[in-house]
Amino acid sequence: MSALPQYGKHLHPHKTMRAVVIDQYGGPEMLQSVTVPRPVPTRGQVLVRTRFVGVNPKDVVVRKGRFQIATGKKFPLIVGHDIAGEVVEAALGADLVEGDLVYGMINDFAGRAYAEYAAVDARQLAKAPSSIELRVAAAVPLASQTALQALRDDAQVKTGQHVLINGASGGVGVFAVQIAKILGAQVTAVCSHRNVELVAELGADRVIDYTKTELVDLKERFDVIFDVFGNYRFDKLEHLLTPRGTYVHTVPSARIVKDVAKTLIRRKRAKLVIVKSRREQLDWIRQQIDTGSLRVVVDRSFALDDAAEAHRYMETKRARGKVVLEVG
Ligand SMILES: NC(=O)c1ccc[n+]([C@@H]2O[C@H](COP(=O)([O-])OP(=O)(O)OC[C@H]3O[C@@H](n4cnc5c(N)ncnc54)[C@H](OP(=O)(O)O)[C@@H]3O)[C@@H](O)[C@H]2O)c1
Repeated sequence: MSALPQYGKHLHPHKTMRAVVIDQYGGPEMLQSVTVPRPVPTRGQVLVRTRFVGVNPKDVVVRKGRFQIATGKKFPLIVGHDIAGEVVEAALGADLVEGDLVYGMINDFAGRAYAEYAAVDARQLAKAPSSIELRVAAAVPLASQTALQALRDDAQVKTGQHVLINGASGGVGVFAVQIAKILGAQVTAVCSHRNVELVAELGADRVIDYTKTELVDLKERFDVIFDVFGNYRFDKLEHLLTPRGTYVHTVPSARIVKDVAKTLIRRKRAKLVIVKSRREQLDWIRQQIDTGSLRVVVDRSFALDDAAEAHRYMETKRARGKVVLEVG
């Protein structure tokens, strides 16, 4: 049975769990189901019996080793960030209790969600929405918090502003369209023809099919451009921004870091969203879900042992909404 470098010495001497780990960076076939020691929660943490895990493009990027500088070279490594499950143990200083049904995102770079149990800082979790199944709740934390942070915090979207969302039908996009509407914006959403109906149903005021219309040729101006899919650059879409408009990108690169620095003292600004899980955000999102203002779109579910299949699907970049793993 393998050690788990992510948990250091905080492992149970006798109790085990099933987890999907990688022993080296690489393709989806690196994801292997194994038995490992169960973690022990430390101060401020809770032990969650994970029922469902949300799959995100970040899991794929970590698996490929693109963030090695942050994720290191110690294996086995459990990947994944989004969980929904039940608190089965609370360490000193954790403000959740045994029996709480929770959802949230593990902030560590590699994550450690693809397992039957996860020890997580309680502040990165919140009570799960009561109006949806836990399976659906697992699809929410990373993607919805990215959309909320990008639109509310980075771009400071205000009522009546015009917001353009590129990549509106994927994991982050479906939340972004709805959150922009909740914040009072006029939303123009961009996706391919197969998703036009879905995105319109989510509340977009106008939907542009990118296979028919080139974004750079649009004549209108936007207060905020949220480039969720991340296939544009600030300088390519700058002319579509209003004089004090904000462009928010999702994919870290030297280019966007330079654009952010370059526009710090300019009126039109470039920003890069870097999602972090926080109780306050998860509480806000739960409220929107439970009052019927925010719909969660789950495309497909896979068994935890089929994580490799789920990754292959994510890598097609055709997911409509979210992909979930069932831990069982
Ligand atoms: N910085 C952060 O903190 C952060 C957080 C979350 C996500 N991200 C990044 O944000 C990106 C999007 O994440 P996600 O979860 O939304 O991904 P996703 O679920 O994999 O996105 C899939 C969607 O992308 C759309 N798409 C494919 N090609 C497109 C194109 N050329 N133009 C517009 N849309 C296109 C597809 O719609 P069609 O089939 O209609 O084309 C599909 O619905 C990823 O690169 C992810 O790593 C960053």
